[in-house]
Amino acid sequence: DFGQNDDFWLFGYGSLIWKPPPHYDQRVPGYIEGYVRRFWQASEDHRGTPEAPGRVVTLIDRAHWETLTDHHEPTERVWGAAYHIPSSKVAEVRTYLDIREINGYSIQFTPFHPAAFYTSITSPPSSPPIQPSHASSRSITASTTILAKIEQHQPPIRCLVYIGLPENPQFLGPQDPDALARHILKSRGPSGENREYLFFLEKALLELSRESGDKHVSDLVRRCKEIEREEAKDEEGEEVQ
Ligand code: BEZ
Repeated sequence: DFGQNDDFWLFGYGSLIWKPPPHYDQRVPGYIEGYVRRFWQASEDHRGTPEAPGRVVTLIDRAHWETLTDHHEPTERVWGAAYHIPSSKVAEVRTYLDIREINGYSIQFTPFHPAAFYTSITSPPSSPPIQPSHASSRSITASTTILAKIEQHQPPIRCLVYIGLPENPQFLGPQDPDALARHILKSRGPSGENREYLFFLEKALLELSRESGDKHVSDLVRRCKEIEREEAKDEEGEEVQ
């Protein structure tokens, strides 16, 4: 019954994954479809400054996929975490998020799919079939055998999501991946280094489920580490000379 009640759920796909909103009472890992996550948003207040904006993620919606310069599948999933906010706190949390994010993002509602979880069907725990008459009941231990693992799916949940539209002032559009990695490495803002945001995001994503990695994010991490290795080598070389 997608969207049929007053529950407020918020989808986190950036820093919200590891830095939850205030007052949430449930956190559910899962994914949404019809969007693509990219580091195409300028950050003037968290990982950069108005004079030197950093780069954070935003979501590109299906209507603007022509702006994507790299390969993507229409069925690609954007993994993240959905947070349930109790009704008494919804107004407060929305104000908090709007102050934090509204100038750079637009709001949409979309189905969120909770990650599948697995339950085991096991053999009955005890009563072995035939007991030799000479064996004491204690010498035959009950063993449990896993007969099958069942993937359990829950119905989708209507979720609020902040997305980037080309008309949002902080939306940057396509970024050259190497220039983007170099930009992230040199940026910092009141919330800390931009590289930390990227590295935290990759780690938080991989912890969500078995299939929750993001190629764009991991590619940027690889590029940043490679650039840092090169820079460390150059510095070593300068010291030796
Ligand atoms: C996030 O961290 O998931 C996020 C929250 C609000 C706007 C954009 C991203």
